[in-house]
Amino acid sequence: MKILTKEEIFPALKQLVSQAKKEILIVSPWVKGEVLDKLLSEKEDLNIEILIRSSKLEDLLITDPYTFDIIQKYNGKIYLNPDLHSKFVIVDGKKAIVGSANITKAGLFEEGNIETAVLIENKKEIEKLKDYYHQIKKRSIDVQTQVFGFILNSLNSREAEAILIRKLPEQTYVKIPINQEAFYLGRIAVIKSINLGIVSSFANTVFKNLLTKTDEIKQIFSGENQLWQHSALLSYLYENSESFYIANVEILAEFNPKKIKEKESILKTPLEPPKAGTLILSLKKEEEIKNILRINHAGYEMGTPVEFGRIFNTDIPVFIDLDKITTMHMAVLGTTGSGKTTFIRRVLEHLHVKNVRVFIFDLYGEYYEGLRMDKSLLEHVVFPDVLFPITAEDMKETLKEEGIPIQEKSNEERRIISLFREYFKPDINILAFKEKNLEDILIEAVSLTDPSGYLRKDLIEFIDILKRDYGENALTKQVEVVKQIMSSFESKKNIIIYNLNYITDAKSRVNLSGTIMKELFRRAKETDERWMVVLEEAQNFAPEKGFGEIPASSENISYLMARKIATEGRKFNLGLIAITQRPANINKYVLSQLNTQAIFKLINRNDLDAVSVFFEFSKEDVYSLLPLLKPGSVFITGLAVPFGLLAEIELG
Ligand SMILES: Nc1ncnc2c1ncn2[C@@H]1O[C@H](COP(=O)(O)OP(=O)(O)O)[C@@H](O)[C@H]1O
Ligand SMILES: [Mg+2]
Repeated sequence: MKILTKEEIFPALKQLVSQAKKEILIVSPWVKGEVLDKLLSEKEDLNIEILIRSSKLEDLLITDPYTFDIIQKYNGKIYLNPDLHSKFVIVDGKKAIVGSANITKAGLFEEGNIETAVLIENKKEIEKLKDYYHQIKKRSIDVQTQVFGFILNSLNSREAEAILIRKLPEQTYVKIPINQEAFYLGRIAVIKSINLGIVSSFANTVFKNLLTKTDEIKQIFSGENQLWQHSALLSYLYENSESFYIANVEILAEFNPKKIKEKESILKTPLEPPKAGTLILSLKKEEEIKNILRINHAGYEMGTPVEFGRIFNTDIPVFIDLDKITTMHMAVLGTTGSGKTTFIRRVLEHLHVKNVRVFIFDLYGEYYEGLRMDKSLLEHVVFPDVLFPITAEDMKETLKEEGIPIQEKSNEERRIISLFREYFKPDINILAFKEKNLEDILIEAVSLTDPSGYLRKDLIEFIDILKRDYGENALTKQVEVVKQIMSSFESKKNIIIYNLNYITDAKSRVNLSGTIMKELFRRAKETDERWMVVLEEAQNFAPEKGFGEIPASSENISYLMARKIATEGRKFNLGLIAITQRPANINKYVLSQLNTQAIFKLINRNDLDAVSVFFEFSKEDVYSLLPLLKPGSVFITGLAVPFGLLAEIELG
């Protein structure tokens, strides 16, 4: 250790800095550019960091804009701290000078201030000092990357107006600190552009009362250096708690990340509006946002967080709580090509839990190849093109379509219908397809007709027509299909894909899916596992009245089952994910039971109307964005997420 008198301080600092190989850390409440330049001259490729004071505009006026030029010239970083009074310089973590002098003329050159300092080379002491440096830095602000702006005016505890000091996209998520621990999470909703150049005309308008010291504001905005400008504005606001606004900020929630450790809800309803002058900070690289995104709607840690994408315009990963989906279901809505299927794929790819089983009704065969995961983890059940009537009515309907109406008027007609009633059941356990193919059943029906009657001729012709229209397989694969289904229930794989892509007949797709769902519902009661049903084009399976290929009636077993799972599934941890490109056409009752909503691009007015109920008043700006969303962008809201948020999923 060596004591330094005033005259000795600058030469000692200069020598110290000239030895620097990696890093120079400077802590000095006030810094003059001219002096800093002298000190640093010709030091390149070094990590230079400077901590300065900024509790009033005056601080930044003493620390002149030239200081900021010098720091930028050396690619250095600058941090502001309102309470800073300490002064020291550390070089390469090996040597330091600690004392009373600022990096100013008064501190180092001119007569007047009396200063002292010490040179320290003791390794342990330097370590301690460096530690302290990082503690101060943690409590300081990096204006360049962290500060987005300031709260101007809180309209209420949910909404505030703010001034932004840098260009930001709408829908940016921000942090608004309340104290050392708690903060608000905000969302930049709408940005209004206001010409900052015309400060004086501001003062004559609505802002008159806010800008009492117009001269100071003018001084700030006449500065050349933008970083200095931002910092000066920051100091001005510390001093005056005033600003002017450009953006509307939605306050989403109040968080106290410490509560996570205490197993309490970290989420608080924001009831106190943020104070004017409060900073609006960037969330990027913030540890706490990661914790926040892993809580569910109630503010507790998610039971089963599953990553699916990133927050819009950031690289911050977002999660849904699978527990809230297996019990409370999810809707995935959006126009064709908007990213619905890809979204489900991303969720499944990140599903690393054992006791969850997912059953996918894959209409277009998009899952087996599309899932970027080890295929041995998938049970891929590919159904052949098959006809799959499950009620006598189904068969009567098909006959009618081919011009063979059976009225149950004659005895032979009654015999045939009762055969159909005996064989076709909407239950896989008693359905005749367990042992007989459709062809066998139809041939048996033929044998019940009068040998010389019209009906026999018609029925034989009917079999031929079906073969011609749907292929030979359509009549002879039912037993195989039932076997496929039964063995899929025994599968130990976590993801079971029912590939319905090859089934031509819409009613058969619906019947097959409904039959499987019915059995899944029955079996879900008997297992401790959590199960999920993924229903693609759900508007066809559970249509709103008047829409869909198959009506919403008690004869539509898939509709009945989707409804049953949606209302009762939670009792047995059986969840429903209903995907549809036509939210207006999906059954309203079923939709109302889907408590998490992933909403992609929508264009159609009816569809937009159908989802409008999911957008609270404060989210109207997001709602109006829906027609403009690009593929892969999604607004997700409801029980499985902490709050409604815009996210992006990776396509392709
Ligand atoms: N494997 C892929 N490679 C490249 N682009 C893809 C791939 N799969 C899907 N996409 C694109 O991603 C977007 C979303 O597709 P998808 O999730 O299938 O939409 P949706 O299910 O809503 O109809 C589409 O624009 C599609 O072209
Ligand atoms: Mg799709």
